[in-house]
Amino acid sequence: MEPVLLKEGIYWVGAIDWDMQYFHGPVYKTHRGTTYNSYLIVDEKVTLVDAVYAPFAGEMVERIRKIIDPARIDYIVVNHLETDHTGALPEVMKLAPKAKIFCTARCKAGLEKHYYGNWDYEVVKTGSELALGRRTLSFIEAPMLHWPDSMFTYVQEDALLMPNDAFGQHLASAFRFDDEVETDLIMEEASRYYANILYPLSKLVLKKLDEVAGLGIPISMIAPSHGVIWRKNPGRIIEAYRRWASGEWLPRAVVVYDTMWGSTAAMARSIIEGLAAEKVDARLVKISIRDLNHIFTELLEARLLVVGSPTVNRSHLSVLSPFLDELTGLKPVNRLGAAFGSYGWSRGAVKAMEGKLEAAGLTLAGEGLELLWVPDEAGLESCREWGRVLARKVKEQG
Ligand code: FEO
Repeated sequence: MEPVLLKEGIYWVGAIDWDMQYFHGPVYKTHRGTTYNSYLIVDEKVTLVDAVYAPFAGEMVERIRKIIDPARIDYIVVNHLETDHTGALPEVMKLAPKAKIFCTARCKAGLEKHYYGNWDYEVVKTGSELALGRRTLSFIEAPMLHWPDSMFTYVQEDALLMPNDAFGQHLASAFRFDDEVETDLIMEEASRYYANILYPLSKLVLKKLDEVAGLGIPISMIAPSHGVIWRKNPGRIIEAYRRWASGEWLPRAVVVYDTMWGSTAAMARSIIEGLAAEKVDARLVKISIRDLNHIFTELLEARLLVVGSPTVNRSHLSVLSPFLDELTGLKPVNRLGAAFGSYGWSRGAVKAMEGKLEAAGLTLAGEGLELLWVPDEAGLESCREWGRVLARKVKEQG
């Protein structure tokens, strides 16, 4: 693929990774691959903004060569230390050994311990500017969005924001811009990205959105480091981030369960019927056959999480443990929870699950529901009624 022009003199020179299967370990499965977006600004000073993952260094360098000799690179802006954006730096520095690197102090410390290069650094902070000739870059530190070293770069004359991981999507595509790819697909992957990477940092996201809005700078385009570039409607992803970060919810419930001999599964289906009868968009997820990242994405805008398990060894099935552990780390805001399950010789699953929901910050929507052995029609009707009661709680303003 050729370099792609964003604005006059500004090019995408990144790489497309169609085969990337997971990110940050096995939880976040990237079924649609990803891209590593790197940008070249050709001005009096030639500047590379971010690089790519090491295996794609050659691909990026070839794209740069189609525009200029890489030896002409004067400056490299590193918005974020993580290796998917810096792995190619040693290769670039071999070709342009005098290039100066601009990054935050934490990023510099991290780069020194990743690559051990004798490189020329200049540490920047919020408000620092870098004149390129016709253009000026300004920098906005963005600690914990999503690492302590992260920052955004803004090209003043082009109203172009390069926020690295923020506003990205793990979406490999033959196209580079939001107006070239189905909107629903982009938003699905953007929400998956937010749910899996940024959700626990929502308070900081909100603060940063307010800070950037307070700067009063125009934003005509957002060029993140993964996925498509927001050219047609950058406001769309900013608004979505504001919604996700502020914990806004839809009248939606997600029922996450697993089962031993089918009793808890039968309860789950009846609970779904009860929720749906009260017009709550209820989604059923059997945890052993779905990825955790799918569940977290479903939860992003759902008001209610219902978890179900039979009692085993006085607790819930262990297959639910990774999900409940991750949930604690994600710290959902303004969410309701409830637990149910079948039991035989002893109880314990519902109490254990309720404890974990509360530990994750959810408010219990009501008493849990437990049924002995195999539910009969009366038992299933009690599940439907429990679902209807929960649905009414969902629709109350929180
Ligand atoms: Fe935090 Fe795309 O790396």
